[in-house]
Amino acid sequence: QRLDLQLEMLEKGGYEHFMLKEIYEQPRSIHDCMRGRIYPEQGKVQLGGLKEYTEKLKNVDRIIIVACGTSWHAGLVGEYLIEEYARIPVEVEYASEFRYRNPIISEKDLVIAISQSGETADTMAAIELAKEKGATIFGICNVVGASIPRITHAGVYTHAGPEIGVASTKAFTAQVTVLTLIAFYTAQQRGTITQSKLIEYLTELNTIPQLVEQALQVNNHVHAIAQKFKDSANCLFLGRGSSFPVALEGALKLKEISYIHAEGYPAAEMKHGPIALIDEDMPVVVIATKHSSYEKVISNIQEVKARGGHIIAIVSEGDKEVREMADYVIEIPQVSEPFVPLLATIPLQLLAYHIAVMRGCNVDQPRNLAKSVTVE
Ligand code: G6P
Repeated sequence: QRLDLQLEMLEKGGYEHFMLKEIYEQPRSIHDCMRGRIYPEQGKVQLGGLKEYTEKLKNVDRIIIVACGTSWHAGLVGEYLIEEYARIPVEVEYASEFRYRNPIISEKDLVIAISQSGETADTMAAIELAKEKGATIFGICNVVGASIPRITHAGVYTHAGPEIGVASTKAFTAQVTVLTLIAFYTAQQRGTITQSKLIEYLTELNTIPQLVEQALQVNNHVHAIAQKFKDSANCLFLGRGSSFPVALEGALKLKEISYIHAEGYPAAEMKHGPIALIDEDMPVVVIATKHSSYEKVISNIQEVKARGGHIIAIVSEGDKEVREMADYVIEIPQVSEPFVPLLATIPLQLLAYHIAVMRGCNVDQPRNLAKSVTVE
């Protein structure tokens, strides 16, 4: 047993938990995910696994993304990116719902299944169903040679490396990275992005691993914030645009590992319900980076403040306006809009992690949860 323990410590590479190790691996895993796939100077994205299906991507009328859990959140980010840059309508479905509602799907459709493990039963069943109806299926998986990559027509591996912590971290950012690549690749093929814009974005994407490294430097600050909120019973996460799925993911991380009830909401929807819950005992985490909906998010922050709520804001480096309103701010490096999800996710993972550790929870193996759900 001592040997087992020593082995485990070795595997954790000096970190107290696998989850923390995996959070810190993200600069590397995102880099590995992009390696050999982007050529910024040439403005080129190369996805070997999808090559044969380039025509399909170019001409498809609709994409349906199916997934569960965290992978479903990555799918929602993918929806924003693909619609924005490739201008193809995207629907994102929970695999478990999709499979049981006689979905309208044909050989004209493209289905993208996202799964870290490549073994999730509902996602596999959704793929089989779509396949029967003649759709083309792409997989975005992390585990090489798992079941899903074997039943899809084509796909892209995330190459994040083994993820041990039950709560997904580096697999999520790798999935988002792959979806970003698919969005840009498709946009280029369809001519919905200019070559100069693509070069600009790919050049920036290339720097994201370094910026994620920088984002991780908020760790001590996030630890201090966690101390303040560790005893909360509820927590609300708000975001707009592609930061909305990031808010959902932040809430999921917190509830999975700390057992605090948390909800993610599109910031503007707050007034249609959750605003009734706001009081001084309800921390509200808001993603308020300097992008298209910045001013709108500021009004949402004011709505929370007016009701006595405490705001923890994720802001762009150097932000002054939100700092004046929020109780706590966590800065992330300034990036262009498509890359916000990759950076804004980092402090939320750390927040959930520290709160869970402070509450004495088993962060790597939370109660009632499994790393991969292979039964219905
Ligand atoms: C389980 C895991 C989650 C994961 C979900 C989907 O619930 O605990 O972390 O997001 O399954 O798993 P998949 O392997 O298909 O991404």
